[in-house]
Amino acid sequence: MKLTLFDKNSKQNEYDIEIILVLNKDLEAKNIKDRALLKNLNFKGGDEEAVFLPESQRIYVGCEENSYECIAIAIATAVKKFQTTQFKTACVELLEDESESLKALVEGAILGAYTFKKYKSKKEKEVKQELVLLASKDLKKLSDIFNESVIIAESVNKTRDFVNTTPDDFYPKIMAKEAKKIAKENDLEIEVYGQKYLQKNKMNAMYSVGRASRHESKLIHLSYKPNNPKKKIVLIGKGLTYDSGGLSLKPSDFMVTMKSDKSGGCAVLGMLNAIAKLKLPIEVHGIVGAVENMIGGDAYKPDDVLKARNGKTIEIRNTDAEGRLVLADCLCYAQDTIKDIDYIFDYATLTGASVVGVGEYTTSIMGNNSKLKYKAVSSALQAGEYATSLPFNRFLRKAIKSEIADVCNVANTRYGGAITAGLFLDNFVYDENKEKWLHFDIAGPAFVEKAWGYNPHGASGAGIRMTIELLKAL
Ligand code: BES
Ligand code: ZN
Ligand code: ZN
Repeated sequence: MKLTLFDKNSKQNEYDIEIILVLNKDLEAKNIKDRALLKNLNFKGGDEEAVFLPESQRIYVGCEENSYECIAIAIATAVKKFQTTQFKTACVELLEDESESLKALVEGAILGAYTFKKYKSKKEKEVKQELVLLASKDLKKLSDIFNESVIIAESVNKTRDFVNTTPDDFYPKIMAKEAKKIAKENDLEIEVYGQKYLQKNKMNAMYSVGRASRHESKLIHLSYKPNNPKKKIVLIGKGLTYDSGGLSLKPSDFMVTMKSDKSGGCAVLGMLNAIAKLKLPIEVHGIVGAVENMIGGDAYKPDDVLKARNGKTIEIRNTDAEGRLVLADCLCYAQDTIKDIDYIFDYATLTGASVVGVGEYTTSIMGNNSKLKYKAVSSALQAGEYATSLPFNRFLRKAIKSEIADVCNVANTRYGGAITAGLFLDNFVYDENKEKWLHFDIAGPAFVEKAWGYNPHGASGAGIRMTIELLKAL
């Protein structure tokens, strides 16, 4: 779907369809011309409620309140209706606060129109459709917001494509190839390291997780370095292109959807794509640990003790807690090779416990710096993503002590699994960076099993919008 921003006063009545957002369920509002018909159709104007009136060629859609979320859901719903027709153009007017509503309309439309058809053998002929957003003033300022929102939403969709691709079509080498494409397109520096590098540089935790796979693990490092950057940021992503659980094999029902265990890494790729295109004035490093967790004679085992890059030893009691092992070495790699870091954030579909604890819509944010955590939560909400902060404490920290190594990869308690995973990672954050680090557990929202809002079934691209917002706020 093509999106354009137009001056409302310069061009009129040239669109096939008019989309009308019905605010606050107010069917008496000025802009509603088909009042009687809507009443007869039992249209109430609730969220995700839309009707297409072919006679007047209008789509009415409910928008329960004038907020980013409701506007984005409303336009996504309307766009989906528009996509069921053969009409070529549709228009929608910006709401009263034009700049606020513009972001929601652009992002909601692009995210809502997303479909993933790669594996459908019948290729439907796509109708080229266009949605025109009509503004009444400040076209110059609005066009900046428009362009920015397009970049962000398209980066989210790029990430969704990566994550939705099956594990046999998207393994570590392919992830590196996609990263190289992003680097080339945006003029970024890139390094890709394989298994030899991991062994030589004592990244034995990450190396061991990928040992039983037929696909070699890849450590991907992208850098965006504008002139005179104001800050230096490191973004790290868990890129498990498949998580079978390893020898602590997942039960069948839990294994399905584990192609999405690369969501953190794919989000980092999407973030770098967006950051470079937005030309943010900060230096950003994107580091992805791309690994496949499989079984086989060469698999790492419960009872192994692995030594991470910083020398800490890890007792393995469950090979399904593999993401934290990959991230441990990636965190060390970042802190060893990048000097004077201002912030270091990691993104991972790390624990089922996060999903149980906060629900499938919400990201759990952890770290040692409360102020930074709350800033991240508020940026997420501002950007249209759900997030909450989870608290560390000294007792849960003790739960990952090991009898025979420095730390254990699973806790000795059934409770607080998202937090104990975060505390495990804290072992690999160096003292000077403790306050600069945040951990984002996106296990809940990264992959959508039942469509919600503007997210169809499949990958959501969680983490990108909140991070762009946070980077702008820092
Ligand atoms: N990738 C999973 C976590 C996950 C679960 C992500 C559900 C998305 C949806 C992770 O590697 C894992 O298996 N974690 C274990 C940890 C446990 C063994 C301590 C889990 O959450 O059960
Ligand atoms: Zn796992
Ligand atoms: Zn995993």
